[in-house]
Parts: sequence; C-alpha cells; structure tokens
Amino acid sequence: MNFDALRQQIKQQTDEHLLGLISQLPEHAENLKAAMQHALLVGGKRMRPVLTHLVGNSLDIPQQDQLTISMAIECIHAYSLVHDDLPAMDDDALRRGQPTCHVAFDEATAILAGDALQTMAFTILTDQPMSDYANTKRAQLVSVLANASGYNGMCGGQAIDLQSTGETISIDTLTQLHQLKTGALLSACVEMVTLVSSAIDKDDREQFIRFARIVGLAFQVQDDILDVEGDARLIGKPQGSDAALGKNTFPALLGMAAAKSELTRLHEEALQALASLPYNTDYLVAYTDLMVNRNH
Ligand code: IPE
Ligand code: IPE
Ligand code: MG
Ligand code: MG
Ligand code: MG
Repeated sequence: MNFDALRQQIKQQTDEHLLGLISQLPEHAENLKAAMQHALLVGGKRMRPVLTHLVGNSLDIPQQDQLTISMAIECIHAYSLVHDDLPAMDDDALRRGQPTCHVAFDEATAILAGDALQTMAFTILTDQPMSDYANTKRAQLVSVLANASGYNGMCGGQAIDLQSTGETISIDTLTQLHQLKTGALLSACVEMVTLVSSAIDKDDREQFIRFARIVGLAFQVQDDILDVEGDARLIGKPQGSDAALGKNTFPALLGMAAAKSELTRLHEEALQALASLPYNTDYLVAYTDLMVNRNH
C-alpha cells in the first residue's frame, strides 16, 4: 500500500472510532456534546494517529492498542486547539476551514468542550479495550499523556507562548516553547505506542522518541512558515495570525530564509534518527517528508 492510501485509511479508521465514542455519550448536555463533536470531528489531518500507527505497525503492536492510544491523543489535541483559538489566547475565528468552536457555539461551551475532551482522553486510556500486555501499562500510559499535556508539555509551552507574545525571545527559548507546545504531544504518541511493545529494547525506544521530538519541532516550524506564506483556503485557518498578534515564530525571529534552512536541517536530522533504527522505516520517512513539506 502506498503511504497516502495508508494515511487515508488511518484517518478514516480514527474518525469512525472517534465518532462512535461521541455518539455513545448520553444526551443530557446536547450543546456540549455538539461542541465536542465539532472540535473532534470536523476535519483534522490526524498526524498524531498516523504517527502512532506507523510506529505501532513497525513494532507489530495490536491494532486495538494503537487505536486506543490514537483516540486519546487526538482528544487532547482537539482540546488544545479549542482553547488555543479562544479570545483569551489566539482569538482565531477559523479552524479547519470552519468557524472555531467558540464562534460556532459560545465561549463558555468551548471552554467546557475543551475540558470534557481532555478528560475523555484519559477515560479512553483507562477504559477502551487493549491487549493483555497493554492492559498492564494503562497507568503508565496515563502518566505519559498527562505529563505531555500539562505543565511539562503542551500547557507549559502555551504559557511561554502567551507570556512572550509581543516580546522578543531567544531562539533557544522559542525552540523550547515549540518543543513543549507541539513536540511533546507528538513524542507522547511514540512514547505511548513503544511502551506497549514487549519486544523493543531501551536504546531503540529512545531513538524512536528522539525522532518524534525532532519531527514535532519541525512540524511547528512549518506551521509558523505556513502562517506567513500558506493559503488560508488550504490551511483552513487565518493566514497572518501570528504576525498580527506579535507571536514569536521561527520566521519572525530568524527571517524566512533562515527559518526554511532550519527546517531543512531538522528534516535531515529526523531522517538520520530513523536510519539508525533496525526496523523498516519507509513509511516513517514518507511521514517525515510530509510533516515538513505539507501545504496545510
Ligand atoms: C495545529 O495542528 C496546531 C499545531 C500544533 C501546529 P495540526 O496541523 O495537526 O491540526 P489539525 O488537527 O490537522 O487541524
Ligand atoms: C498551537 O500553536 C499549539 C497548540 C498547542 C494548540 P499555534 O497557535 O501556532 O497553532 P495554530 O496555528 O493556531 O493551529
Ligand atoms: Mg497558539
Ligand atoms: Mg493558534
Ligand atoms: Mg500556528
């Protein structure tokens, strides 16, 4: 199967199962449920589930374990986007070519939808079916995801992003910001799926995680570049939002040419990390190329 077909298959499978989970929620708060569905199921490239499944497949992890991890991470990701778009944060009105959650619903509902998606991620990790081996790892899976989502990960990065908006920070601080706000969740995919492998050795696991950290940073550098040069119709979000807010980004701090060179350097570094792994990483090479060359 070629990479694009596999990617579409993973996206479709993730979407179907996430819809299944949302559909099972009882109707006592219909508006909240609709807002959660909007945040989770209207679009999304599913890059985190794709990464989880590609690494999982290369390690022969049972599909059910891969799916449970993918759904949990996608709930955290969707929540992070809902809150990121709020007026108190980036104040964006367009996401995935649709009105953002607080625009389609209202601010209070969007805050609650983010909260409920966040807790749903952990319910998934504790309750959804997994193999006997993965079943023994549930507490560690929760720990990895909670750590990557909170102060030591996404929320910590978002806080540095907000507190440094309108000021100029060093490239080291920006790198840390990007690694936390975006890289942490991408590397959590790999940390979780390798955690449920009984076969992988410690060095290979560390190398997979190192790869994910580099790709995660590269992904956010490309996100910064697309905010400047992307086509709003393709990216499905407002173009120029970062500059309008005075955000620290790679193009803003380094200039566009140097930001692109840095992206190329990270691309090469990620491919080198993959090359040293004793697994077939052809799909992961294609994934890495897509993460840095995407136009949306
Ligand atoms: C957007 O993430 C926010 C970042 C962390 C860069 P994605 O580009 O993965 O968003 P969707 O899920 O495809 O909309
Ligand atoms: C978002 O960074 C990172 C998150 C944790 C959601 P951005 O603010 O650049 O993401 P977009 O461009 O709005 O998707
Ligand atoms: Mg933001
Ligand atoms: Mg934003
Ligand atoms: Mg952005």
